[in-house]
Amino acid sequence: MKKTRIIQLCFLLFAVAFAGCKGKSGSEQAGGAFTPGELWPDNNGVHINAHGGGILHDGDTYYWFGEHKTEGTAGNNALVGVHCYSSKDLYNWKDEGVALSVVTDDSTHSIAKGCILERPKVIYNKKNNNYVMWFHLEPKGAGYSGALSGIAVSDKVAGPYKFLRAVRPNAGSWPTNVQDIHKQRVPESDRSKFTGGSLPAHPDSLNLLGRDMEGGQMARDMNLFVDDDSKAYHIYSSEENSTLHISLLTDDYTNYSGTYARFFPGRFMEAPAMFKRDGKYYLIMSGCTGWAPNAGRSAVAPSIWGPWEELENPFVGEDSDLSFHSQSTYVLPAPGKPGQFIYMGDRWTPENAIDGRYIWLPIRFEGDQPIIEWQDKWSY
Ligand code: DGJ
Repeated sequence: MKKTRIIQLCFLLFAVAFAGCKGKSGSEQAGGAFTPGELWPDNNGVHINAHGGGILHDGDTYYWFGEHKTEGTAGNNALVGVHCYSSKDLYNWKDEGVALSVVTDDSTHSIAKGCILERPKVIYNKKNNNYVMWFHLEPKGAGYSGALSGIAVSDKVAGPYKFLRAVRPNAGSWPTNVQDIHKQRVPESDRSKFTGGSLPAHPDSLNLLGRDMEGGQMARDMNLFVDDDSKAYHIYSSEENSTLHISLLTDDYTNYSGTYARFFPGRFMEAPAMFKRDGKYYLIMSGCTGWAPNAGRSAVAPSIWGPWEELENPFVGEDSDLSFHSQSTYVLPAPGKPGQFIYMGDRWTPENAIDGRYIWLPIRFEGDQPIIEWQDKWSY
């Protein structure tokens, strides 16, 4: 064989070997398929760090916002902030950096480093041509007792976002579906029997709604939903997680309008993710068992204000009673496929928070019932 031919052959072998290595690294692994539960490398080959997240579709780009977690159990608290990634195809994600940073030089600040900042979501406000972020906020050192909503805004989708305020929802307002029992005072001794877990009795016997009427209702696990008429809603676990509240936001999306309603009293639902299909509203949610997975919940309604009908666990097959070891965080309309949706869930790893995995799966429907089946690998 001639010397030039041998050199050409060596070059070809090197090129093939190099391409093989590249295929296994970084964003190439994501390629054109979802592999639920696997590491999901970004454009730098680093596992995506956007837990409890949600997606904003802006122009031709998707933005994924989520909790930036760090190593170990300490990483469950917010030591960095909200991380943002962008993508054109939902498979390959570019690191856009930290969209909202925790405050490092003032330990009394609402979003001081070490606070709990969970489930951030971003929506676009047409009226002000800006981006509004909401998240569940627990001030540093107070566990989950704060049950506040944090709000931040930015003129640029990927941030930096400016923190506006931390609030308890709807202080001074009753929900549209308030009942007489809520306006009665329950003795403090009765309320103190309640320690936060599930109760066999209906929680209205403790009147948590009435307890929080003046100071504002509790808001923990949350999501946002913007309807076709541009009205935006905050959906969150309230009344010590026992009951779901849905609140209409102001036109600029940065505050509560005072109009809200309560649903599923005593059902202890967390992780609400709302979507709209053929004019009907759907919720996918979880039960309430801390970081541990449980069976999913689902519901449908003809209007956002109900009546909400609870359906079955949307997960089917092996491990469906554990939602495939995940908890809902968002439901995304499938790109270019009207009426089809993608379930986004978190597989939490509280012992090493940064290692949490993402479970994205297609949702199909049997009548109104959303159905989610496990797939090792899939594309839309
Ligand atoms: C379940 C919630 O869904 C999470 O966001 C987080 O608050 C954990 N509980 C904390 O235990």
